[in-house]
Amino acid sequence: MNFWDQRFAEPGFKYGTEANAFLREAALRLPAASVVLVPGDGEGRNGVWLAGQGHAVTSVDNSSVGLQKAQTLAAEKGVTLTTTFVDLADWSPAPASVDAVVLIYVHLPGSIRLRAHRALAQGLKPGGWLILEAFHPQQLHHSSGGPRDVDMLYTPEQLAAEFADLLQPVLAWQGETTLSEGPGHQGLAHVTRWLGQRI
Ligand SMILES: C[S@@+](CC[C@H](N)C(=O)[O-])C[C@H]1O[C@@H](n2cnc3c(N)ncnc32)[C@H](O)[C@@H]1O
Repeated sequence: MNFWDQRFAEPGFKYGTEANAFLREAALRLPAASVVLVPGDGEGRNGVWLAGQGHAVTSVDNSSVGLQKAQTLAAEKGVTLTTTFVDLADWSPAPASVDAVVLIYVHLPGSIRLRAHRALAQGLKPGGWLILEAFHPQQLHHSSGGPRDVDMLYTPEQLAAEFADLLQPVLAWQGETTLSEGPGHQGLAHVTRWLGQRI
């Protein structure tokens, strides 16, 4: 059992069963019946919501416990979700194969992040959307969730540099918000929100 398997093996849903608020807003940009990839979807709250909006969703994660719970949630909500076990450290989607990539609180260490992020962006079709929310380094001053390691926290500037030449930035924001996402994300938080479109 890895770190996330252990957390997701606890009863309930660590980040709740409702989709992230920024995703709900950003997803309004997606054409009907989009092909959506949700890396690091964990227990599936975001992938299941996107499937409920009529999109064709694949959630990939390296927590088998999380993926199993995602399937349970999908069944409860009566939607179809494809789930695949992958390690983002060495996995790439087929180039130009999806309309959107959704990264919500997927905090990869610096050692694997650049390759993984660029491979995910290359998976987008031209005009496709990358939607990302993650904790900012200023989150270290808050106790509402997230890794306690600055190497795993993201600034909008870092993301723009990582996605350079692949994505046109459309929204780049960092600031405070109040999270209420299950027991894992509760209270005042400092987050980065980033939206880019495949060139
Ligand atoms: C903080 S949880 C967020 C889960 C979900 N995105 C949400 O917002 O509810 C981080 C997720 O990223 C996944 N993850 C972290 N590193 C990964 C890797 N190298 N490959 C695949 N998934 C990974 C974990 O298994 C976990 O499901």
